[in-house]
Amino acid sequence: MTSASRSEALEAPASTPASRSAALEAIAAEVRACTRCRLHAGRTHAVPGEGHPDTEVVFVGEGPGLNEDRQGRPFVGRAGDLLVRFLATIGWRREEVFITNVVKCRPPDNRDPEPDEVAACLPYLQRQLQALDPALVVTLGRHSMGRFIPGARITQAHGTVHPVDPATGAGSALVYAMFHPAAALRAPDVERQSYDDAAGIPAALLEARRRRVATAATAATGAATGEARPEQAAAPEAFPAPPPPDASPVDTALDAPTFF
Ligand code: URA
Ligand code: SF4
Repeated sequence: MTSASRSEALEAPASTPASRSAALEAIAAEVRACTRCRLHAGRTHAVPGEGHPDTEVVFVGEGPGLNEDRQGRPFVGRAGDLLVRFLATIGWRREEVFITNVVKCRPPDNRDPEPDEVAACLPYLQRQLQALDPALVVTLGRHSMGRFIPGARITQAHGTVHPVDPATGAGSALVYAMFHPAAALRAPDVERQSYDDAAGIPAALLEARRRRVATAATAATGAATGEARPEQAAAPEAFPAPPPPDASPVDTALDAPTFF
C-alpha cells in the first residue's frame, strides 16, 4: 500500500502522488467554476468527485442527485449508502477508491443528462482518468457504461470486464460494468445481482493488473534490461485470491485495493 511500488513504466513520467493530487484538485477547481453547459445554472454545488489519488480503481456514476448537489460530494445519498455496502462486502472503503460521475452538475429533477451536456462535461472525466491512470474502471449504470463500452446492454454486460478505448483517458484500464445502485434500490433482483457483481470486483482488478503487467513486460522488451521490474511481476500475487463464486458475503472479504 505504498506509493513506492507504483510502476513508473505504466504512467506519465512526471506522475507522483503529489502531482496526481494537484492535477485532481486543479480539475475540481475548474469544475466548480464551470459554465460549459446549462446544468451549471441549477446547481447548488458542482460535484467533481473524490477519493484516493493513488487508487487503482475508479467508480463512475451518472450525475449528482439532490444530496450530492447539496454537499458537493458524489454518492452521499441512499444510492451512495448502498454503494458503500457493496464495497464493504469485499472489504473496501470508499476512501480507498475514486468516485466520480459522467456529469458533474445535477440535472433538474434527476433527469438523464442530455447528449450535449455529457459532451461538454466529458473532458473533465477524461482528465481525471488520465491523472489517476486506474487499472480498473467500474461503471455504475448504463449511462456511465455507454462511455466505456459503446453499444453494450447493461443486462448482458454487468459483471463482465472489457478493454477501454484510450480516448476515455483510462487507456491502460479494464472496465467492469455494474447496475446503478439507484436501480438496485428500486428492484430487489437488481440489488441481489449487484451484490454478486460487487463480489466480482476483486477478480476484475486482478485481471486488470495482470493485463498491465503483461503490457509493461511487452513494452520493456527491447529496453536495456528486457524485463519488467520485480515489483510489477509480483503485483498480482500480492493481492489475495478472488473468492469462489458461491462464497458467502463474509467469505468474500478481501484486503483493500493496494495503492501503487
Ligand atoms: N447517482 C449518481 O449517478 N451519482 C451520484 O453521485 C449519486 C447518485
Ligand atoms: Fe460544466 Fe459539467 Fe457542470 Fe456542465 S455539468 S456546467 S460541463 S461541470
